[in-house]
Amino acid sequence: MDKYEQVIELAKRRGFLWNSFELYGGTAGFYDYGPLGCTLKRRIEQIWRDMFVIQEGFMEIETPTVGIESVFVASGHVAGFSDPLCECKVCGEAFRADHLVEKIVPVADALSNEELDRIIRENHVKCPECEGELGETYEFNLMFKTRIGPGAGRQGYMRPETAQGMFVDFLRLARFYREKLPFGATQIGKSYRNEISPRQGVIRLREFTQAEAEIFIDPNDKSHPNIGRFADTVLNLYSGAAQEKGEIERLTLGEALEKGIIAHEFLAYQIGLTNLFLQRVGVSPDMLRFRQHKKDEMAHYAMDCWDAEVSTDRFGWIEVVGIADRTDYDLCSHAAVSRTELSIYREYPKPRMVTRFCVKPDMGKLGPLFKGKAKAVAEALKALSREELEKEDIRINVDSEDIIVPGDAVEFAEETVRVSGENIVPHVVEPSFGIDRIFYTVLEHAFDVEAVPAKEDIGEESRIILRFRNEVSPVQVAVLPLLTREELIGPARKIEARLREKGLLVSYDDSGTIGRRYRRNDEIGTPYSVTVDYETLEDNTVTIRERDSMKQVRTPIEGIEDVLYDLMYRGRDFESAGTAF
Ligand code: GLY
Repeated sequence: MDKYEQVIELAKRRGFLWNSFELYGGTAGFYDYGPLGCTLKRRIEQIWRDMFVIQEGFMEIETPTVGIESVFVASGHVAGFSDPLCECKVCGEAFRADHLVEKIVPVADALSNEELDRIIRENHVKCPECEGELGETYEFNLMFKTRIGPGAGRQGYMRPETAQGMFVDFLRLARFYREKLPFGATQIGKSYRNEISPRQGVIRLREFTQAEAEIFIDPNDKSHPNIGRFADTVLNLYSGAAQEKGEIERLTLGEALEKGIIAHEFLAYQIGLTNLFLQRVGVSPDMLRFRQHKKDEMAHYAMDCWDAEVSTDRFGWIEVVGIADRTDYDLCSHAAVSRTELSIYREYPKPRMVTRFCVKPDMGKLGPLFKGKAKAVAEALKALSREELEKEDIRINVDSEDIIVPGDAVEFAEETVRVSGENIVPHVVEPSFGIDRIFYTVLEHAFDVEAVPAKEDIGEESRIILRFRNEVSPVQVAVLPLLTREELIGPARKIEARLREKGLLVSYDDSGTIGRRYRRNDEIGTPYSVTVDYETLEDNTVTIRERDSMKQVRTPIEGIEDVLYDLMYRGRDFESAGTAF
């Protein structure tokens, strides 16, 4: 078994992850989170909330997971969110055409469908399932389609990213934040992508959880007031230039900014914050790098983009976070499709005298000529340049209709006016986290197998441990009566209640030998176990066992909830938690 198989086997056996719809044979691209998985996932999300919502002040909103068509026309997903699909003519199985040829050509995902078909033909690539002949490659849109309402209804799509909900709410958000840049909104929620053939287990899901922040910033000032916090943070940076050389650089974020490797401070700050988050949830720093998108792979909306990539045993480096400067692309697109200005008013420090070109359509003439359309014609005229207006017949387009307006129906002039501010379209910096992939990497990086020392020998040579960081452990304390006897169960249950009242995540376990119970708890990553034994009945003390060191201390029941809380959250040294023995 490779590490992925070992981790998934453990995850299934211990209630972290289960194949969805297993009862009916399952289907690729969907996983259920079991009791421990769901708790671990929530705890990862809670740390994200702590850092982005509470500490950064980007408040959470919740928008529908189903979207109407206009939203995804504006975002570009209807036209361009697709992968090249190639079907077997014999068995009908579907494949990503670029994946079929990736061992033949190195950059298969950059090829056109015609080029992919040529490579498939020239190399006699056949169906990996049945060796049958493959059909022509075509673009397959990855959004799940649905209908809103009964009958023909209205076209809807399951959202492929949470981001669009925050762009659509821009005007409301701007008002909420009193139009003061920078401001941001966050969402943690499900997104959907109908992947062609997800064969990477939990790494490529069709329904997945994103945690995204859309931070609206001043397009003319992308500095960050707290960049000093991360100026000395050393990271593994894999810039576009470093990728040409195939060498990851160790640089501070300050150095990367000075050298112009990262476009600006605001983006660098988000990279620093992402690094902190990933380490806090348990991603190993030496297995983490930040890779810059090369010009030819950058999304259509981005001017600079960095992926946090984590090293995994089976899949190599996988992207878990994308951090992009999306410029004003989304706001401008939504403004165009919704025909609503999406900007904020920014007052100048001092009013300015501005000479500007001023168009005055003559409504007395336009009214009789264009009747109900006169207002739209006047608006269209206001958008024209002096050169266009100086013509005898002025040509405009209103509602897809070409219209000619006589030159004498519009006056224009230059005027100097006092202007106290302007409307600006903010740019957007977006850190976008794939929670499920982070969840998996936390499991894999926590997974360990080690030899068992004699004192805990239960006839097995090794033990499996999930070395979770305390803050994410789905069970924080296991309470274990040494034997299943009433006199031990009573005090154990009381301790369990005290710990729960303190807010700790507790499991009570009295089945099997104590050695087996320790092993079970090592496997699910429980950092501390409390054992109630016959000494407890004599002197009101219990043992606390630490998962990683397997050391034990003896400590009074009185105040045990505070001791464990301090061990969990306040970095208390284990040796100080009681008397070693
Ligand atoms: N919002 C960026 C993404 O979903 O890829």
